[in-house]
Amino acid sequence: MAHTLGLAKNAAGQVEGFEIFIKFLPPSASAASLKEFFGEAGEIVGEPRIMLDSKTGNCKGIAWITFASKDAFQTAISWTGSSFQGRKLEIKAGKQFHTGIRPSVQAPGTHTPALCAEVVKKLVAPNPGGVYVDGTFGRGGHTRAMLAAMSPSGSLHAFDMDPEAIVAGKELMKADSRFTIHHAPFSSMKAVLKPLGVRVSAVLFDLGISSPQFDDAGRGFRPEADGPLDLRFDQTKGITAWDFLMSASREEIIRVISEYGETSDATASQRIADVICLARSKGALPKRTREFAALVAQGKGPEYQAMHPAKLTFQALRIHLNSEFDEMRKGISAAFGLLGEGGRIGLISWKHSECAIIMDIFRSLEAVRDKEPLLKWYRTLPDAEQLPERWSMEMDEVTRPSEKELQTNSRSRSALLHVLRKRRMPRLADLESMAYALPAWCSVTEPAVSSTPARKRKRKETEITSVAAPAGTPELTSSELSRPSRCEEEGRRVSDGTNLEGCNHCGKVGHTTKRCTFGAKPSERFLPCEGTRPKAPCFWRRFLLPLQRANAQTFTADDPRACGRADVGLRCVSAALFRSQGLRRNTQVCLSFEASNHTLEVSGALARGLVPDEPRLASRVFEAFEAYFAGQGLPDPDEDPEAWCASNLRGLEVKERSTKAALKAALKKKPSEPAEGRVVMLMLDAEGEPIVEVLKQISRTNVVGVVAVLGDHRGFGPHDVQAYEEVARSMQADIVRTSLGGTTLLGSHAIVILQHYLDEHLHRCEVPKQVDYGRGR
Ligand SMILES: C[S@@+](CC[C@H](N)C(=O)[O-])C[C@H]1O[C@@H](n2cnc3c(N)ncnc32)[C@H](O)[C@@H]1O
Repeated sequence: MAHTLGLAKNAAGQVEGFEIFIKFLPPSASAASLKEFFGEAGEIVGEPRIMLDSKTGNCKGIAWITFASKDAFQTAISWTGSSFQGRKLEIKAGKQFHTGIRPSVQAPGTHTPALCAEVVKKLVAPNPGGVYVDGTFGRGGHTRAMLAAMSPSGSLHAFDMDPEAIVAGKELMKADSRFTIHHAPFSSMKAVLKPLGVRVSAVLFDLGISSPQFDDAGRGFRPEADGPLDLRFDQTKGITAWDFLMSASREEIIRVISEYGETSDATASQRIADVICLARSKGALPKRTREFAALVAQGKGPEYQAMHPAKLTFQALRIHLNSEFDEMRKGISAAFGLLGEGGRIGLISWKHSECAIIMDIFRSLEAVRDKEPLLKWYRTLPDAEQLPERWSMEMDEVTRPSEKELQTNSRSRSALLHVLRKRRMPRLADLESMAYALPAWCSVTEPAVSSTPARKRKRKETEITSVAAPAGTPELTSSELSRPSRCEEEGRRVSDGTNLEGCNHCGKVGHTTKRCTFGAKPSERFLPCEGTRPKAPCFWRRFLLPLQRANAQTFTADDPRACGRADVGLRCVSAALFRSQGLRRNTQVCLSFEASNHTLEVSGALARGLVPDEPRLASRVFEAFEAYFAGQGLPDPDEDPEAWCASNLRGLEVKERSTKAALKAALKKKPSEPAEGRVVMLMLDAEGEPIVEVLKQISRTNVVGVVAVLGDHRGFGPHDVQAYEEVARSMQADIVRTSLGGTTLLGSHAIVILQHYLDEHLHRCEVPKQVDYGRGR
């Protein structure tokens, strides 16, 4: 029978051997057992490539083997149908090309440098006689290519933390006098090279781990391979991953996994930390990688993932133990100090988090581009000062591996080459601060239709509670602040009241309309409800929504769903706070963005101008986050009550804290509330007591507040429920599990129903009848 030859080719496209494709292998098939079996057909080139199950690390039934000769290849093909570890194999000629990226043939102990030609072209070619630094020598792939492109007068210093890399570097030192290896972290390059008085032309950082480190099971970097749980670049220093996990607190483990594991799934980090803590409390924390990976996979849950479920945990531990991000910052700064004018830093990054650090550093040093629109504007101003020239950075376009490189080195698929150039130029950050300080900048930031008064434009956004003021409404003086007056805009009678809240019609402080102020003081983020004729002191309501995947740092108004389903939270805010005619002032909603550890409290008593439609609500939330991350807070109500009153941030408070901390705060009574007053935590639970029964019972107690905790679209796990109940017990709150009926509801719908039952069955004061619906209000 004639076979189409499966010619295996190397990077240069030369035939390296003859490839077979094997199907129906058992899970236990390994490279060693395949080599032993197929070795009898003839000489095998490199290692068999086995498709592995990302979760178990076992063979998925498929493998490729390359033979050195055509005869061996044909013999192996003739064995199709033969039995291997109890399975009948199908053996065919391998295809030359795969769809997608073909796994590369990387011989153990070797490393194919990524983007090598590009590194040489961008870093060495401009000045082949210069002094170069390779901050991450590895096995010297890039170093060798750089040396090959350098002239005899050039020199290259390399750094690595890994003793095995140093052995390889010392060999190269013997062969090439232009080369020196240093066993030190790259952050120390300035301390090492400065005394030599060299001016460096370019520095390369190929970040992360090398293939030999990864492939060597003894280093512990691979979840699928069995090895010690070590994960250090330099095994002679520091502590192993196992030692770290044995001594770290649960919070520290969660932080490391979520911060360096590039996952926005806060629950996953917590669950992984929990299984680690549980295992170590029983003295059973695995010391070997494969067992540890299985434990992580167990903790994480069976969710689908294309990669090994423990891969990101291993990555996180590696980054932490080797201080990779800290090293990056210090290393880039050291390199910047060593370069002369026009000197370059090349950074090969592999992960989003590395790119983010590079961009962060670049932004702080970024040179002003000549085409910068702000610069053009700045130059037109007669009073603009000369911009100072400082050491700055320009960045070239980022380079990715070519198709050709991907065909031969699939591991390079996520590599990106950033090249930064040191220049003596004005910095963009200087231009921005100097431009913004100019008086002319104010007119630039004015809205385009400047004849329209600001509040008139706001009217559209705030159709429920605000009415626009006419142009030229006079500002109130401080003496006017204390007396009731008329609302200039509408000519309505306004009532007495505290001055701070301002008028919802014209936005001014000093007079308050009946409807627009709730008497809330800055510290009163929610109020007990209050009827016209209270029968008894009534209660407040708080809704806590843990949004397990939501990340406040990536929240955008355009797509709140994308940051981890914050859209669910927005709908809950709307459901909890809005009635047809304004906000419920007795209600506060707290959204917990668990992926970034931030909470957002929206308080009905304080927020102004909120509207229930999702896009505009999202804009307000975005505004609150933006102000928080920029370090801007609410104006001080004592110093500037008007600004406080009119601020869009009022009633939307962002804090960095966990859901548990937010729950603790929510369950706290006010000092003014009676000592015997009860706070009740309601947990919605299909198995719980019917809500009406529950509320009837609660109404017999002296309840001052109700806190309802609702799950997002993913619901709660038993761990969460247990944790929330623990917090409630520590706050001496009553815990009630209650059911809203047999149908599984959306969180926002459940809130509407719950508010209805609370109004109907727990409300102790008379709710004023709202009779005048419609636009007239
Ligand atoms: C991706 S590999 C570099 C491979 C190398 N470019 C090559 O072609 O062989 C990264 C290397 O940097 C080393 N490394 C990581 N962080 C380091 C640091 N802070 N200082 C020095 N070496 C470091 C690792 O030990 C590893 O050998």
